[in-house]
Amino acid sequence: MLDIASLKKSFLNDLQAITNLSQLQQLRVKYLGKRGLVTSELKDLSAVLPELRPTYGKIINEIKNFIIDEINKREDVLKKEEYEKRTLSEAIDITLPGKFTPFGREHPVHAILSEITSIFTSMGFEVAEGPEVELDYYNFEALNMPKDHPARDMQDTFYISDEVILRTHTSPVQIRVMEKMKPPLKIVAPGKVYRCDADISHTPMFHQVEGFMVDTDIAFSDLKGILESFIHSVFGGDTPVRFRPSFFPFTEPSAEVDIGCFSCSGKGCRICKNTGWLEILGAGMINPRVFEMVGYDPEMYSGFAFGMGVERIAMLKYSIDDIRLFFENDLRFLRQF
Ligand code: DAH
Repeated sequence: MLDIASLKKSFLNDLQAITNLSQLQQLRVKYLGKRGLVTSELKDLSAVLPELRPTYGKIINEIKNFIIDEINKREDVLKKEEYEKRTLSEAIDITLPGKFTPFGREHPVHAILSEITSIFTSMGFEVAEGPEVELDYYNFEALNMPKDHPARDMQDTFYISDEVILRTHTSPVQIRVMEKMKPPLKIVAPGKVYRCDADISHTPMFHQVEGFMVDTDIAFSDLKGILESFIHSVFGGDTPVRFRPSFFPFTEPSAEVDIGCFSCSGKGCRICKNTGWLEILGAGMINPRVFEMVGYDPEMYSGFAFGMGVERIAMLKYSIDDIRLFFENDLRFLRQF
């Protein structure tokens, strides 16, 4: 029954083939488990003659201890190997270059829009917004431009339906605010506007800032004072400002506001088309008919309003000659601001 030599030989053979810890565990069961080969040898001892038992027992225990030792040694080696393999595969190479996340920055149009808005809020104006998809009523009708009004033609409107359009200016915010609130009002309304027009100085979408003030005794001189300090904040304190008579259906009287050409200092050049002046916004005293549309008493209230194109101001401020550059998303252009 006792073939220790071949047991040892077969164990050593098996041990050689072991490459990982779970195989080693199977080997342990095969030899030392409850029904293992060594264990059954020990059980068989009872069949051995009593006087031979101590010798047999000793031999079996030696082989048992030998197997335990070998398995433990192998376990140590395998554990170390597996640990090293895992550490290597999980290791982070801190010498690799990091992943580069490009930085964003504010778009120049948005930067000027915030600058304009914050100049007015610093003078006590509050910010209001209106929808870009607007009713014909707010964009035209309530601003004293009925359906057949010739001023509508100037605005190249995008129609969604007969009554729904993309707003062509930010002036409808005046109506929306006045319908909801009573004077005194001091509001700026920045936002996107849309006109079906595209060339070097027009894009189908652009930005405007509208402003207006309504109270019981607002005069044209208030409009002048506010706009002059605004222009001096944006373009510098010594910029000449000129109010030139004009027409808008929603203001009476109306004016266009010019600044002295910074390129030729008023002498006349290509940029100012030899006039010495650059137009930057439209303004005027709110037409009493607009007050009537929102249910304000025109005898009691007066107010001024103004509206300006944000891209135009940015173009003048940074000497940009093509408005389309703002929307082409060429980083070489955008990074300059
Ligand atoms: N809404 C006008 C436009 O887009 C600009 C404008 C002119 C606004 C005069 C005003 C104003 O509030 O009083 O052409």
